[in-house]
Amino acid sequence: MVSGKMARGILKVSKSYWETRLPQRWYSKKEYGTDAYWEEIVRKRYLTYFPYLYTAAEFRKHSGKKVLEIGVGVGTDLLQFAKHGAECYGIDLTKAGIKTTKKRFEDAKLKANLQVANAEKLPFKDDTFDVVYSMGVIHHVPDMKKAVSEIHRVLKPGGKAILWFYGKDWKYYLWFPLWGFIQGHFPKENLNQLAHRYMEVEGNVPIVRMFRKKEILAYFTEFSNARAFNHRGYGTSLGKKFYKINKAFAAVMNVLSRYNGWTIKAVK
Ligand SMILES: C[S@@+](CC[C@H](N)C(=O)[O-])C[C@H]1O[C@@H](n2cnc3c(N)ncnc32)[C@H](O)[C@@H]1O
Repeated sequence: MVSGKMARGILKVSKSYWETRLPQRWYSKKEYGTDAYWEEIVRKRYLTYFPYLYTAAEFRKHSGKKVLEIGVGVGTDLLQFAKHGAECYGIDLTKAGIKTTKKRFEDAKLKANLQVANAEKLPFKDDTFDVVYSMGVIHHVPDMKKAVSEIHRVLKPGGKAILWFYGKDWKYYLWFPLWGFIQGHFPKENLNQLAHRYMEVEGNVPIVRMFRKKEILAYFTEFSNARAFNHRGYGTSLGKKFYKINKAFAAVMNVLSRYNGWTIKAVK
């Protein structure tokens, strides 16, 4: 059991990590913030790195519904819900993420209610949302059980959580120990410690977890129905330099990455 003071300390470290590392920043080398830059971000995200995401996330399916995204990052995914007519709400731990997302919504002339907040303590009443969406965020939250229970609390009865988590794939079992061995960190560090070191593109993320199917579903017992799906996908967690390698390499990666992540669909 972590004391309140320690939990606040962990959260502070996590916040300062993300505050200076906007997600998706490295997808494009074009001039930051230009239309061409954001167009490349969108293209890379839905065509290269996560080709299954547009359908799996159900961006087109919630017109007129109240959708909350937890951990909006730079807002790319929330914009897709908004473009397809959802009433959008978004939170992120960082000011940088919320500021960027607000600007992108303004530029797109779309509306969203955006604020800085912590996934462990959502600033919304019980039974508020039809959908809670979160991609690659909850596995970075200090108290993940609390975050899942908050998602359950703010969903309306019958509402749906659509969430994405890291899977324990070949990187976890093969790549991290191999790369760790070459760099002198393995076997001194165990697989979970190596995941902290290597899992994010920027490296050394303060909090990260990876899951097998059973492990992730165990968090969703409060829901009336929870299912886990995996998809082949290149993902974005191998480190910048590997994405420069050619298309044949990418094709092999797509096959290897069957357990790259879990999409959870859970109904309250
Ligand atoms: C890997 S990024 C993913 C962002 C976005 N969902 C995406 O897929 O690009 C993780 C995001 O989660 C946010 N985050 C981390 N911990 C959080 C917390 N406790 N509450 C809310 N957001 C958090 C970070 O600020 C960051 O924007």
